[in-house]
This record gives sequence, C-alpha cells and structure tokens, in this order.
Amino acid sequence: KMQAATNILEQKHHVSRDSRGQILGHLRGFRGCTVWFTGLSGAGKTSISFELEAFLVGHGIPSYALDGDNVRGGLNKNLGFSKEDREENIRRVAEVAKLFADSGVVALCSFVSPFEKDRDLARKIHEESGLPFLEVFVDTPLDVCEKRDVKGLYKKAREGKIKGFTGIDQAYERPSKPDISVNTVGMGIKDSMMMVIDLLVQKGILP
Ligand code: PPS
Ligand code: MG
Repeated sequence: KMQAATNILEQKHHVSRDSRGQILGHLRGFRGCTVWFTGLSGAGKTSISFELEAFLVGHGIPSYALDGDNVRGGLNKNLGFSKEDREENIRRVAEVAKLFADSGVVALCSFVSPFEKDRDLARKIHEESGLPFLEVFVDTPLDVCEKRDVKGLYKKAREGKIKGFTGIDQAYERPSKPDISVNTVGMGIKDSMMMVIDLLVQKGILP
C-alpha cells in the first residue's frame, strides 16, 4: 500500500456555489447533486442514466453521466472486480462525482456498486460537502437480467469464464434505504426515467 500524504491543508475557493449556479445552464440556480444508480449488470442503469442525461441537457440543465464501463476504460483502468477493487472504483467515482456536483452539474453515476458500505461512503463523501446524494435502486430481478444478457456476460459467468460476477458468484447487497426503487419490467426506459425526474422535483433540484 502507498503511503498517504501528510501536511495537506484545504484551500478555499473564491467562488460560491451560488455564483457558479448563476452562469450555468438556461435555468440558472445551483442544482449540483449526484444521482447514484445501483443494480445488477444488465438491470438498466446505463440506459436510464443516459436517457436522463439527455433529458436534463435538453432542458438546459448541465448534467454528466459517469458509467462503470467507461470509467473502467480510463481513470480506473488499473482496477478489477475483487471486493477491494470495487471499493476503490466506487470511492474514486464518488470523489469525481462530488467535484462535478460542487461545480453545479447534475452528476449521474451508473455503477453496479454491489456493496452497501461502498454506497454509504459515496453518500457520506457528498453529504459532508453539503451536496445532495440520491440513491436509485434499479431493481431488475436477476432472472430478467440474465434473460436479457445484452452483453453475453451472464452466459460466460455461468460457464465459469468470468469469475466473481455479480449475482452469480459474487454478492449483490440490495439497498436497504434507497431514495427510490425503479422497476424496469414491463415499462420503457423513459417511464423509469420519469420516476427519477419526479424524485428530483420532489427534492427541489428540478423546478
Ligand atoms: S462495480 O461493481 O460498481 O465496481 O462495477 P462497475 O464499475 O459498474 O462495472 C460493471 C460493468 O463491468 C462489466 N463486468 C462486470 N460486472 C460485474 N461483475 C463482474 N465480474 C464484471 N466483469 C465485467 C459489466 O459490463 C458491467 O456493466 P453493467 O452496465 O453493470 O452491465
Ligand atoms: Mg451499464
């Protein structure tokens, strides 16, 4: 393990969240927050998150989606799928999302994030900075995800060609207190997205 840095002092910005909000988007006002999508592989996290990103940007609200597959090709390319690596994946992404949110952007994170303590840390990182954090449980049952098998990963996991696959031979801890659970069975991506938009309105993030 690397030695952590010492003699670090937080440096205060000269720009307030309020002033950042005044120059952002057609609607103005600070709306920085993080919406965190958790769920099994193939549950629909990326689809709902990207649909919401397009909706928000289309309505003049700055938003940026951070997705597991994408972040693992860049920032987190040195991480795998062990419990420890997933923890570090989520920690780094939460810190990045916090910066997006602090800048006034609606950060959308779509990560399996199977462990409750890692999701709780992501929440803590935001709440300590006074930024809203909304946990969205994309609650698609395993058998549905496996039937969809969009990427063919469940088949590989069943054949033993992928080790430590979430829901097959590694745990998925269901959120015990998500801000919202969205169903994806028997409804379209836009319907699921609307449930998240309703939550953002309810929380005063969207007008
Ligand atoms: S985690 O658990 O939050 O760190 O995972 P995440 O960064 O979201 O990456 C999940 C995507 O990687 C692919 N993949 C796996 N998922 C789960 N378990 C294993 N072992 C695995 N190996 C590869 C898969 O495409 C996941 O994307 P989604 O969109 O969830 O299907
Ligand atoms: Mg995905």
